[in-house]
Amino acid sequence: MRDAQRGVLLIGLPGTGKSTIGRQVARRLGRGFLDSDVVIEQRLGESIREFFEREGEPAFRDIESSVLEELTQPGSAPMVVATGGGIVLRERNRERLRTCGERVIYLRSSPQDLHRRLRHDTTRPLLQVADPLARLRELYEVRDPLYREVAHFVIDTGRPSVAALVNMIAMQLELGAAPPPA
Ligand code: S3P
Repeated sequence: MRDAQRGVLLIGLPGTGKSTIGRQVARRLGRGFLDSDVVIEQRLGESIREFFEREGEPAFRDIESSVLEELTQPGSAPMVVATGGGIVLRERNRERLRTCGERVIYLRSSPQDLHRRLRHDTTRPLLQVADPLARLRELYEVRDPLYREVAHFVIDTGRPSVAALVNMIAMQLELGAAPPPA
């Protein structure tokens, strides 16, 4: 498939800037942008936090998998999609990310940076705990290898501004140098 016809999927922990950066990457590429959490909330008719707390995580993950499958249907218009941080937890989703033909970009941030950004967040069910930094460290430990397993590119979000990150991503996509993950 030619790169111009391929979509872009952003993956990474909550708070890495997938939506903010994704929206700007989409503008730069002249593509549409979708946030898969927003699609899920539209479908649920309520917030993810409410659904998650009432129905539990497995029910949320089922919906997340089916939305991922819809958003990566072969033949659909190439978009930029920001995914939820837990998208890589299910093998079925990782398989989809590896094989759907879209370019997958892992936005990596340290747990400390994420904690600084998400200190006051009340929307993410997994972070409503006494020690959110410890939770972010656990999530990082489990998920960082899974993000790397499916990503074509890893972009460190540490210091650069959003504009610089968007430039780096646009350049990586143009170079398209990395082979798809095995
Ligand atoms: C989750 C991350 C959230 C959302 C849900 C679960 C997770 O998305 O999908 O609260 O498991 O990390 P963001 O990464 O956009 O915050």
